[in-house]
Amino acid sequence: MRALITGASYGLGLDLAKVFLNHGYKLLLIARSKDRLLEIKKELDKDDSIDIFPCDLTINPKEIAEELTKKYDDIEVVINNAGIGLSGDILSHNIEDETRLIDLNIKALTIFTITFGNYFKKKDKGSILNISSVGSMMPGKYMASYYASKSYVSSLSYSISLELKKTNINIIAFNLPRMNTKFDLHSNRSGNLKKGVSPIKIANKIYKYRYKRGIKNIGASVKLTNLLSHILPKGVFAHFIGDKLR
Ligand SMILES: NC(=O)c1ccc[n+]([C@@H]2O[C@H](COP(=O)([O-])OP(=O)(O)OC[C@H]3O[C@@H](n4cnc5c(N)ncnc54)[C@H](OP(=O)(O)O)[C@@H]3O)[C@@H](O)[C@H]2O)c1
Repeated sequence: MRALITGASYGLGLDLAKVFLNHGYKLLLIARSKDRLLEIKKELDKDDSIDIFPCDLTINPKEIAEELTKKYDDIEVVINNAGIGLSGDILSHNIEDETRLIDLNIKALTIFTITFGNYFKKKDKGSILNISSVGSMMPGKYMASYYASKSYVSSLSYSISLELKKTNINIIAFNLPRMNTKFDLHSNRSGNLKKGVSPIKIANKIYKYRYKRGIKNIGASVKLTNLLSHILPKGVFAHFIGDKLR
């Protein structure tokens, strides 16, 4: 049994790799930085359990997903974790950066979900874990496209989980809290932020829920936000959260 993890060179993806490896899974790790993936393989791989596949998922994701389904017959879990944010006034953003966010957070994730959904359908077994965010629950100024992309991820995953209800294929989106990773740095987010949760703690929770379906809100702050998002008007949230997380 093997877990494919995208965005496995840093942050949550790397901790997910460690957790799944510790539970006896073989790994297929994807990220752009080949050197980082080689370092991780050298550090963690004791018995040839880790394969790496360095690539940019914004370029030819369909071809990548198809190649992997042909090359591997032992994948049981696919974790669409790679994701980027872009902080700031959206009209000042470079169009290429915004397009890259959509290509990674939405396009590549959708292509992997459909391609591996069909791969699992043939085996009548498998789990697709899509990494979403507390940001999926509401709009938020100064991270507009990121929040919108995560709304898409949670909505898509939930709908497919209903379509696959009578199968043995599990698909779930995890709405996660802020974590201590390089995400803020990569997203150019520098506002007045509280310390996030440790990604290893989140990775262990995700492992626990790998056979669940639908949407899972992880952590007290996310559960509270979910509750408030059903009570407060959207405008209040979008304004408040945007100023806080800028
Ligand atoms: N950190 C948070 O506060 C937070 C909160 C809620 C949800 N999330 C979600 O959690 C997930 C993981 O985020 P993180 O915090 O671990 O972020 P991170 O530390 O920035 O890691 C992102 C990972 O994605 C990879 N990646 C980026 N662009 C890629 C591309 N074009 N093709 C392939 N891989 C690519 C990066 O590796 P390379 O640079 O080597 O490609 C890296 O391994 C994301 O989906 C994020 O939206 C994060």
